[in-house]
Amino acid sequence: MSEKGGCVVWFTGLSGAGKTTTARELLQQLRAKGIKSELLDGDELRTGICKGLGFSREERMENIRRIVYVSELLARNGVIAIVSAITPYREMRDYARSAIANYAEVFVDCPLEECERRDVKGLYAKARNNEIERFTGISDPYEVPDHPEITLFSKDGSIQGNAHNVFEWLEQAGYLP
Ligand code: PPS
Ligand code: MG
Repeated sequence: MSEKGGCVVWFTGLSGAGKTTTARELLQQLRAKGIKSELLDGDELRTGICKGLGFSREERMENIRRIVYVSELLARNGVIAIVSAITPYREMRDYARSAIANYAEVFVDCPLEECERRDVKGLYAKARNNEIERFTGISDPYEVPDHPEITLFSKDGSIQGNAHNVFEWLEQAGYLP
């Protein structure tokens, strides 16, 4: 059973959509109010507890399984656990939703063309060049969420504004202490 105040805020979306940036901003906004919160970022965890996992369907599933486990533990202990991971398959998100009591899915919606235009890490260029296999949106699917609690349009809204919308949603849902 979840302690009052704990929840998992799960950011999903394409690489370069703005998951990490928006999640970090939300973390700051929560901490500024003294609310216990943590960020679990897919890209970072892949150098830690998810090290060695690749991008096959099975390995991505294992990656998400570990993130669900840790985030659920945090949430159960009253922490706002923010997750930012592509989470491209419906099956993964269904699993997260079923395994976590207070789960709020945030779809960071950004057109593939825009993510590719930004190409912050140069990964889209590599994927187009076949230097990276199974790249989400290019050579591996991103299944658009059917029923996210919140959808953010990162191309239009500001990072602060988008993060604040999530903050307000959490407040109204009674997830903040
Ligand atoms: S997943 O699908 O949820 O398990 O992915 P995640 O753990 O979030 O890791 C995504 C980050 O890994 C980098 N990267 C790739 N992404 C997608 N497909 C492939 N093939 C790939 N190879 C490396 C990339 O930096 C992703 O970070 P973000 O922050 O999403 O850009
Ligand atoms: Mg990121």
